[in-house]
Amino acid sequence: MNSKKIAGEKAAEYIKDGMVIGLGTGSTSYYMIEKVGALVKAGMKLKAVATSKESEEHALRLHIPTFDINEVPTIDLAIDGVDEIDNQFNAIKGGGGALFREKIVASHAKEVIWIMDDGKLVKEIGNFPLPIEILPYGYRYVLEQLEKASYLPRIRKKDKEFFLTDNGNYIVDLQLKAPLNTKDIMEHVMNITGVLEVGLFLNMCDRIVVGRKDHSIKVIENKYKR
Ligand code: 5RP
Repeated sequence: MNSKKIAGEKAAEYIKDGMVIGLGTGSTSYYMIEKVGALVKAGMKLKAVATSKESEEHALRLHIPTFDINEVPTIDLAIDGVDEIDNQFNAIKGGGGALFREKIVASHAKEVIWIMDDGKLVKEIGNFPLPIEILPYGYRYVLEQLEKASYLPRIRKKDKEFFLTDNGNYIVDLQLKAPLNTKDIMEHVMNITGVLEVGLFLNMCDRIVVGRKDHSIKVIENKYKR
């Protein structure tokens, strides 16, 4: 079994009957969604809110009752992947371009679990390009501001076209280096008109579940979540 599958399936053990589950996006979340599908098939009464159209379609194929975020009063548990995470539970997310929905689902959730293979654990985050979601209107201005701040922005492309998020926006990947001054970056980037969200998820999870190549699993509780 691969490490992502191990982590995704382990995290699903925290799901209880009657919960509203936030479904993450990406290849690790894929396995968690498969497991949620199996739980629903076995008779568990669950509701889900997906963080992307891709995950929503996956959930619907598995007959998981899926709702718009505005249709549920709360999310009991959100389970999602990460691109990089340090031992202070600060993460970079958005490699799949779903960072805005992922952040709003995580912010709304009572409990959050990040799932990953052990390659995602780093001493200091920042070497993975930091994704930010920006509005298409006036994007050149946003790029100029990011360039001025020496963030080395690169607009994400897919098949030679600008990559479009599920919200119809663009993703810009900042080519930074660890360690990051996360407070400065958040303040500076979020202050640029046209930026919707930054893929920095600072101390937002309650636990991480790490699948390893040797098939072992490490669960680390975050006692310091704000
Ligand atoms: C998508 C994300 C993903 O959670 C992140 O990219 C991890 O993906 P994977 O599980 O495929 O490694 O942030 O926007």
